[in-house]
Amino acid sequence: MSRMVIPGTTPTDEKLFNPPEELQKDAHIPDFESYLRLYKKSIEEPEEFWKEVAEDFFWKSPPKGEFLKYNFDVTKGNVNVKFMAGAKTNICYNILDRNVNEKNRGEKVAYYWEGNSPSHSCSITYNQLLKQVCKFANVLKNMGVKKGDRVAIYLPMIPELVYSMLACARVGAVHSTVFAGFSSESLCERILDSQCSFLITADGVYRGDKLINLKQISDEALEKCIEKENFVIKNCIIVRHIGEQKNNANVYNSFQTPWNADTNVWWDDVMKNSSEECEPEWVDAEDPLFILYTSGSTGKPKGVLHTVAGYLLYTALTFKYVFDYHPDDVYWCTADIGWITGHSYITYGPLANGATSVLFEGVPVYPHVGRFWEIIEKYSVSKFYTAPTAIRLLMKYGQEPVKKFNLGSLKILGTVGEPINPEAWLWYYNVVGEKRCPVLDTFWQTETGGHVITPLPAATPLKPGSATFPFFGVLPSILNEHGEELEGEAEGYLVFKQPWPAIMRTVYGNHERFENTYFKKFPGYYVTGDGCRRDKDGYYWITGRIDDMLNVSGHLLSTAEVESALTEHPVVAEAAVVSRPHAVKGECLYCFVTLKNGREFSHSLAEELKKQVREKIGPIATPDFIQNAPALPKTRSGKIMRRVLRQIARSEKDLGDLSTLADPKVVEVLFSQRWEATA
Ligand code: WT7
Repeated sequence: MSRMVIPGTTPTDEKLFNPPEELQKDAHIPDFESYLRLYKKSIEEPEEFWKEVAEDFFWKSPPKGEFLKYNFDVTKGNVNVKFMAGAKTNICYNILDRNVNEKNRGEKVAYYWEGNSPSHSCSITYNQLLKQVCKFANVLKNMGVKKGDRVAIYLPMIPELVYSMLACARVGAVHSTVFAGFSSESLCERILDSQCSFLITADGVYRGDKLINLKQISDEALEKCIEKENFVIKNCIIVRHIGEQKNNANVYNSFQTPWNADTNVWWDDVMKNSSEECEPEWVDAEDPLFILYTSGSTGKPKGVLHTVAGYLLYTALTFKYVFDYHPDDVYWCTADIGWITGHSYITYGPLANGATSVLFEGVPVYPHVGRFWEIIEKYSVSKFYTAPTAIRLLMKYGQEPVKKFNLGSLKILGTVGEPINPEAWLWYYNVVGEKRCPVLDTFWQTETGGHVITPLPAATPLKPGSATFPFFGVLPSILNEHGEELEGEAEGYLVFKQPWPAIMRTVYGNHERFENTYFKKFPGYYVTGDGCRRDKDGYYWITGRIDDMLNVSGHLLSTAEVESALTEHPVVAEAAVVSRPHAVKGECLYCFVTLKNGREFSHSLAEELKKQVREKIGPIATPDFIQNAPALPKTRSGKIMRRVLRQIARSEKDLGDLSTLADPKVVEVLFSQRWEATA
């Protein structure tokens, strides 16, 4: 067992934002001392700690052998993590049946669904949720879905998305949810990578006033699966979402896509006669629960795999403590379930606690810029979780749209996805939270499954911009370039020294890639890929990615992925993509392209390239800037010097040491033709 490290000394900084006393009265973790005590236990006796958490849940049979077993050191064999291996359970049973049958929460609302249009909403109780999930689980079974089969889900934020995920979990199938803003190319790539034999999608969705034909994108993706690998899906189940809204019938009819009678079925047709009872499949604690793709630095997305028991315990506990969950709370996380935030903190974590959540289909500025605040008032939301990019967007409209609504129900505010700049933190704290609600900057990753560095609302004195301290069971360290652990005030690579229950188990189908990506650089540690600073009080400050990844509006993109989308264009010889700071998105894409001999750069070509990236990857990857680069700055060994390109993109005049460049003149040309900083 690693040496105990207590996170920091008691903070003394006078700019601290102390937890409100009101919250401390009945909080689960009411003060910093309690946090430290429990933290110490979680690190020194992880088995005891997690066994107690597991007692809240249902196990058909207990673990066999060791409760926790792991190896983080690649030099000593395969990297692996096992929590409660041999135990039999079902996560869907734990978050639905247990709430309905044992906790008497059948009539409690699980979700207030709020549609893209404010006139479109409904509520779903735990009883109703369980029934719909059982019905759909039977549908899957009847179609031949078996334990371990992969099922792709490409749905907007509608209740059927939750039904689909939980039905998969109930029958032991592995869901692979693909964010419904991804392109057909991205969907195809993900279906093929994990060989999903079923796809669940919808006819379409309105995002703001824009209608998106999901069925058509799905059809294109499935055609590409056949073209590329002769891979034919067994069934494609389509939710009638646009068609169901009567006033949209005309629109819907005009965009219907051809019906493939071999594979296509309507959701409501197959649900009609399906039974409401479905015995869960009892699976192993370490059986796979889901795959979720995240950008990888080589360009090809990685299928992050999470397993059943560890993920259940960890999302349940982080939800309970980080949002200090109480039974009368109404909780709202604005993320899309297509990302890990939605998996952990819309689907699994809240349901594991029997919570009531808002499930929101729309966007923050439709039909007006006060939509978020309107929804908080409408449902008396008490815990609100969103992204810094959304806050920066809404900040631009000033206080007035916020003040139109009564936000008195709010108690806790959270953010996730990227570093939050203190200006946005303070606006969120002062204007939205009316100086009454702690702002929790939660740091984590698709790979970590749940929060790993985060404040606790009644325990942690806050510093705007800091994710503060590790969650229970998480042992961070900061390493220098040589892999040496740094003590006290320090800055370097953020790593973790021991596993927590929800750490990813592998990259689907490629365990070697898992080891190479996260465990090779510093054997014995999980490497996050983020830089981090620890201040004199022991607070952790995430400083951003230190690999070739970009964070646009809280979404990770790999430069390689965007570069390959650009170079697929027939006139592009080479491309290099870097980030440039952006007032709302945090970072945006700035692309340098070298054209093939004799080709002319033009405004329309730049627009064409932007469109190409959008179509290959998805709208989130649309470049903001494309610059013609007659040549790229390269070292003598031919490596592109991205540092210099980043500086040009940011209009930094002092470009530092250029002596390793093969041809320093290249830089002058690029600098003189750069897009000037505007924002
Ligand atoms: C990367 C993970 C975790 C859900 C959303 C993103 C960045 C995330 C923070 C934060 C600073 C953050 C990191 C991380 N990130 N949260 N609170 N402060 N940076 O999941 O797509 O897997 O991205 O997002 O760079 O490694 P993801």
